[in-house]
Formats: sequence, C-alpha cells, structure tokens
Amino acid sequence: MIIAVDGPTAAGKGTIARALAAHYGLPHLDTGLLYRAVGRHCAASGGNPDDPAAALAAAAFPNSLLEDPALRSEESGGLASRVSVHPAVRRALYDRQRAFALQPGGAVLDGRDIGTVIAPEAAAKLFVTASVSARARRRFLEMEARGIPVSLDAIEADLAARDLRDQTRSTAPLIAAADAVTLDTSDLIPSAAIAEAVRVVEQKLGR
Ligand code: C5P
Repeated sequence: MIIAVDGPTAAGKGTIARALAAHYGLPHLDTGLLYRAVGRHCAASGGNPDDPAAALAAAAFPNSLLEDPALRSEESGGLASRVSVHPAVRRALYDRQRAFALQPGGAVLDGRDIGTVIAPEAAAKLFVTASVSARARRRFLEMEARGIPVSLDAIEADLAARDLRDQTRSTAPLIAAADAVTLDTSDLIPSAAIAEAVRVVEQKLGR
C-alpha cells in the first residue's frame, strides 16, 4: 500500500504523512530532505545550485548528511528548491525514492511529485495545500518559538517565490495528480487535518 502526500512547503504534509505512517504502521520518507541534502552539499562544496553539473555532482551526498539538523533551515529549503529544477538531479534521486515506495508492505512518501512521477500507482494520493498567508504565519510562529528572528513579510515572499519555482519548472512541476484528493489545511488544526487525511485514505481503500 503506497500513500502519496504532495503539496507546497509548510502546508502540513510532513505532519500528515508522519501521522498516516504511524496510523497504518508504514515506513515514511520525507523526500524534501533528499533535495535539501543535495542543495546543502552543493553549496558546501562551493558549487552553484543553479548550475546543473554542480547540482548533479552533489546528488552523491554522504548519507550522514540526512541527519544534519541544518537541513531543516529555510536556507536549505531555498537551496533545495534551486537544485530540484534540474532534470538530472531528479533522475539521480528517482531510484532511491522508487525503491522506498516499492518495499514490501508499502510506504508513505511526501514531496512534490510522488503521486505524479515517483509512485503514480499509489493506492491513495493526497494533495495537501493551504493559503500562502496561512503557511507563512505557521512558519513564522515556528521560527519565533525557536528564537530565530524573522519577518512575516520576508517568509511570505520566500514561500511565494518557492511556490512559483516549484510550479513552473518543466520537469515534475508541483501539481496535484488527476486522482489526488485535495486537502486544504488553512483553517484546520493539525489533529483535524490528520483525521481528514485518514478518512480520505480509508475511502480510497474502499473501507
Ligand atoms: O518539502 P521541502 O520543503 O523539504 O522541500 C524543499 C524543496 O525541495 C521544495 O521547495 C522543492 O523545490 C524540492 N522538492 C522537490 N520534489 C520533492 C520534494 C522536494 O522538488 N519530491
């Protein structure tokens, strides 16, 4: 049983994917972390994330990098968004994601192109979204709680720029799969969004 959870940044897809994985006892892969690792490894090696060759070389990042808390930063998200436009980078990360999806028993993957490219045969596909202002507000409160000084306007501008880059790239743009169910979390608290996600998956499974 493969469950695909796609959507823009800070819409709640990570929270929902983790909760679905716990609910169904499935392993979970946050595919954004792979792109973040490529972006960070590229920058740390002195490469330009906008250069396809430099970005591709960074796809051979050491696995230990996936444990680095710095991958969660806004800076890493921006670098990920830049390296992820290169088709060669997406190809380089395909096998790893595909193998994860196909493991016996199934898996939950979250990202941008899980339902469209990585696992088009997924049993259930969710497209988790929320308004830019709701997502910016959440990110702002999250960073404030961590003591990171940021401005709400700057976060909103950054999210909007990242959305645009993700939606307009020619390879695997961020779009809902035709058979995905859209879940707008703008006005939902996490527990309500999770309950709704479980309901959607149960329905897809015909239960
Ligand atoms: O989900 P997360 O914010 O960690 O993703 C960071 C960036 O990585 C996204 O903005 C997107 O550009 C890229 N990404 C992608 N495909 C995925 C996961 C992430 O292009 N499956």
